[in-house]
Amino acid sequence: MGLFDIFKKKSSPLADYSLLGTDMHSHLLPGLDDGAPDMQASLKLIMDLHELGFRKFWCTPHIMSDFYKNDPSTILPALESVREAVKEQGIPVEVFAAAEYYVDEGFVKKLENEKLLTLGEKHLLFEVSYINAPENLSQVIFNMQLKGYRPIMAHPERYPFWYRDFEKYKTFRDSGVLMQVNMNSISGYYGPDARAIALKMIDEGIVDLLGTDCHHERHVEGLRRGLKEPAMRKLIEQTALFNASL
Ligand SMILES: [Fe+2]
Repeated sequence: MGLFDIFKKKSSPLADYSLLGTDMHSHLLPGLDDGAPDMQASLKLIMDLHELGFRKFWCTPHIMSDFYKNDPSTILPALESVREAVKEQGIPVEVFAAAEYYVDEGFVKKLENEKLLTLGEKHLLFEVSYINAPENLSQVIFNMQLKGYRPIMAHPERYPFWYRDFEKYKTFRDSGVLMQVNMNSISGYYGPDARAIALKMIDEGIVDLLGTDCHHERHVEGLRRGLKEPAMRKLIEQTALFNASL
């Protein structure tokens, strides 16, 4: 291999996301939230993501007390219908479902009284408001852990109130929270600030999981652009991400 080949190898983009294989955060189930509106849209997104190298999906519809009142009775039948449609279409992927829980008062009650939907046996995906962090978040996270869940924070890089308090991410992670960055933050889809924080998290080695958080085709386009990002390549090729174990 000549010098030029080495250079070429280093700078060539990712061919696809097959090394990652599993998407653990997505809104692909039809008609449940602001993701895929119907089965046709679901199947198109799944086909496009499969073309990008994904073989396994965790669909994580929003659960918000005031807005998206999902629970197992809405999510599990939608999962079954997507599984049937995927089989009918012959798309070689596996589809599972959990949820993306919005931390609010309703969540605190659910956590106390119900069995929550998890990725695998115990991984619990949660998000918080983009405006301000819940004051009692550390306590709620502790309560999740007391109940036996392993919390995953969805897209920490999208919460502006922590941008000037980067240590906060490390504190959460040190307390046992897995950090899930959105792939489209790396591609700049959510703007320069989210991108800068995502890149800093990668540099500091505090990214545990990657998710597409795919709602629609514009997100798929962002993922295509993301293949060219050196940081994406570095993260996927060189970091022991947790995706494959979910
Ligand atoms: Fe999401």
